[in-house]
Amino acid sequence: MDNRSKQSMLDQAKQWVYDAGQLIRDMMESPYQINTKKDHKDLVTEVDEATEQFLLNKIKSIYPDHQVMGEEGVGEDVKSLEGTVWIIDPIDGTMNFVHQKRFFAISVGIYHEGIGEIGLIYDVMGDVMYEATRDQGAYKNGRRLQPLDQTKTLEDALIGLNNVWAMPNWRLKETTIHQLIAKAKGTRSYGSAALEFAFIAEGIIDAYVTMRLAPWDVAAGMILVNEVGGMTTQIDGSPLDLLQKNTVICANQAIHSELLTYIEPK
Ligand code: IPD
Ligand code: CA
Ligand code: CA
Repeated sequence: MDNRSKQSMLDQAKQWVYDAGQLIRDMMESPYQINTKKDHKDLVTEVDEATEQFLLNKIKSIYPDHQVMGEEGVGEDVKSLEGTVWIIDPIDGTMNFVHQKRFFAISVGIYHEGIGEIGLIYDVMGDVMYEATRDQGAYKNGRRLQPLDQTKTLEDALIGLNNVWAMPNWRLKETTIHQLIAKAKGTRSYGSAALEFAFIAEGIIDAYVTMRLAPWDVAAGMILVNEVGGMTTQIDGSPLDLLQKNTVICANQAIHSELLTYIEPK
């Protein structure tokens, strides 16, 4: 993808995301339908679906050949990352959206032949746009984000961690998570994976650890964090697969290697 088409795609995508944010803010003014998916904790609203449909229509109107993978299934059932693929979470943090009316984001990652080219994470109620283009840096509302401090270690780190992973679970040994919590400076849980990535890129948290994220939760965030020198892998250090769910460790290089020693699958 040449730089000119990348720039125009970025400008276009950003405008669509801002417009989608306005759609969400407008729809929030009236009652909307809330449904559950796999259980009572897994929410979807008609606002999620309308936002995904809005973005899909915009993308297909200009880029009919591009594939679109979205959480709510409005786009295609994407089976390969060939060509250009848009990976979309229309509302990341639906629980926050429903219960708190804030702290949720629109996440859009654009991949070309499997390589992350453009990442956008928009904090809708905060009106904060995080954006990144491969090899051209990451920005928060137009201000360039600084490279991560690669000397910072776990002892001095705030870690994004959902406390569910410190409870007995079948994915990993929770006792090692207890040791991790004891070692780190503190933990935080924001309820939006996309915002946790954006906060790492901004340098206001230092790591994010979670056991099961879908491609749309990570697609934009990985690009953003990469641009400030951070790493995102699965818990065994292997790369993420954007066609399925993954375990995720994201941090600067020093903290990332420390985290690998703390997390033990069952
Ligand atoms: C969820 C949020 C949450 C994370 C979950 C995701 P959703 O996305 O990112 O922080 O812990 O794993 O599924 O369902 O609100 O788009
Ligand atoms: Ca999500
Ligand atoms: Ca979502």
